[in-house]
Amino acid sequence: MSESMQGLHRTHRCTEVSNANVGETVTVMGWVQKRRNLGSLLFVDLRDRSGLLQIVFDEPQIGAEGFAKAETLRSEFVIAVVGTVQKRTAAVNENLKTGDIEVIATDLRILSESETPPFHIEENSKTNEETRLKYRYLDLRRPDIQRNLMLRSRVLMLMRDFMAKEGFLEIETPILCKSTPEGARDYLVPSRIHQGHFYALPQSPQLFKQLLMASGYDRYFQIAKCFRDEDLRADRQPEFTQADMELSFVDIDDVLDVNERLLQHVFKEAIGVDVQLPLPRMPWQEAMDRFGSDKPDTRFGMELCDVSDVVKDCGFGVFTGALEAGGSVRGINVEGQGAMPRKKIDKLVEFAKGCGAKGLAYLCINEDATYKSSFSKFMTEEELAALVAKMNGKPGDLLLFAADKNKIVWNVLGALRLQLGEELGLIDENQYNFLWVTEFPLLEWSDEENRFMAMHHPFTMPMEEDWANIDSDPGSVRAKAYDIVLNGTELGGGSVRIHQSDIQEKMFEVLGFTKERAHEQFGFLLDAFSYGVPPHAGLAYGVDRMIMHMVHADSIRDVMAFPKVKDASDLMSEAPGTVDTTQLEELGIAIVAAEEA
Ligand code: AMO
Ligand code: AMP
Repeated sequence: MSESMQGLHRTHRCTEVSNANVGETVTVMGWVQKRRNLGSLLFVDLRDRSGLLQIVFDEPQIGAEGFAKAETLRSEFVIAVVGTVQKRTAAVNENLKTGDIEVIATDLRILSESETPPFHIEENSKTNEETRLKYRYLDLRRPDIQRNLMLRSRVLMLMRDFMAKEGFLEIETPILCKSTPEGARDYLVPSRIHQGHFYALPQSPQLFKQLLMASGYDRYFQIAKCFRDEDLRADRQPEFTQADMELSFVDIDDVLDVNERLLQHVFKEAIGVDVQLPLPRMPWQEAMDRFGSDKPDTRFGMELCDVSDVVKDCGFGVFTGALEAGGSVRGINVEGQGAMPRKKIDKLVEFAKGCGAKGLAYLCINEDATYKSSFSKFMTEEELAALVAKMNGKPGDLLLFAADKNKIVWNVLGALRLQLGEELGLIDENQYNFLWVTEFPLLEWSDEENRFMAMHHPFTMPMEEDWANIDSDPGSVRAKAYDIVLNGTELGGGSVRIHQSDIQEKMFEVLGFTKERAHEQFGFLLDAFSYGVPPHAGLAYGVDRMIMHMVHADSIRDVMAFPKVKDASDLMSEAPGTVDTTQLEELGIAIVAAEEA
């Protein structure tokens, strides 16, 4: 039988009870983690979100009836205990915050009983994730997940606090929006009143925050839910949280400055990490050339090296062919791995092919300075020596080369570098390397669409010094866009926005939008900007990703209370689900049965 709270007040969370309370009477409440019977003594580990506290039931202290009740306790029962704090007489537990004290119970209430849970509530559970997510409400009791969510709460609080002090206003923007397909696929919501019409859930508050700037709110901030119907990965969810901001009367440096101080504050206060300012900045081109990635992990070296010049006249057709086709040949030096067995090298070749490479050329420099290589037979001694010198190759090194279009070469070597960095243990997990990647290309050519697309979004300001080339060489124009990268992850991104109608119109033209289509999709923004708009810029962080890094989680699901799985479903509530035909009729929607695959 469940008892009530009547007359009881919790005085402490479990680990708030300490040595300082010895001799005092406390009232604690929580879940039974474990019960042990030692004849006339009965021990219970009581758990709440703060941690564990040992409760001792001793018949003379609690009485026969209380003791009998304590004997019925099982894992996950919810109880309230009144008792006296005392120093532990024996078995001090060094691993526990409350390991040197215990509470001698004088009163026990069973607030709720529990069925035997489908898995044991414990840190680093070995239970498979599917079961845990089906019973997420139990999984959320695990101390490690609770710590993650408590840290998440603290980070959001620290951010709000910092932003308020910096003069940002927190303003909510709508969740039911107009569909303006720009990046990912929209989630759509059918309208009942306007049948055949749909809202879209926001992919980000982008347009609204720009409107707020036009309306004079000058510094805006929001912890915003965003929705994107895209393929999920370890660090992607269909709904996720951004810490979103926009500022008026600013240029790049102003935005970067306030964000650096925000990061410094949050990382120090939340996890005690000192972030040295200013953060390093790297133009996009340099990031690609050196790391093969626009989000480089700078915690280790193994940088890419362009050897196109050295091999342009060599006898190896794979290399010269790629160069003739307008590509490049680049390599990485895997230092000290020259003796890597052939089987392992073959695995790397397969890995490279998985990243889109046609192949991966290798050259092992033996300790006696001879080579073992997949292509040395196509090159002269001199050509090989020049190549090795360019790569800074020493006896005992392994050199890997990719030859293709730049994009493929970067992608392949960038991924290989990360893979090898991890495999060879070159990454210091305790290091926090922040990096601004700047000067992104404004446009990106899409083979699929056969046109230029905005790399960030159509409202991103081009760099003034490049704008003159927008007609002659659109691909060369850089944008006033920036990403904040942490240890190889894009934590956030943003840009200075276009606030001049002539530049915006030209941008739409380059993107292949007719005037009509631009107005149809973004008319309200363009109209708003015709009534006086300040120069403005902003940025948004992926909050989930930030927390992931702070707690070293492998999956974004470990830092969200109720995440979805790979197929975007929720295993606990079984969303998405079917709905009544009456609901559909109200919306004027008929389901066309999906054809059997
Ligand atoms: P962007 O699209 O780069 O920019 O998004 C900002 C940050 O949000 C995080 N993020 C995600 N996190 C989890 N799951 C996802 N599916 C997901 N998609 C993105 C990333 C990313 O860096 N409106 C612009 C910002 C601006 O220009 O101010 C925007 O949304 O960490
Ligand atoms: P092949 O002459 O095709 O047998 O290739 C000789 C070597 O070059 C093999 O080790 C291939 O893996 C490698 N190779 C093939 N294509 C490429 C490429 N695009 N870039 C780098 N190496 C390649």
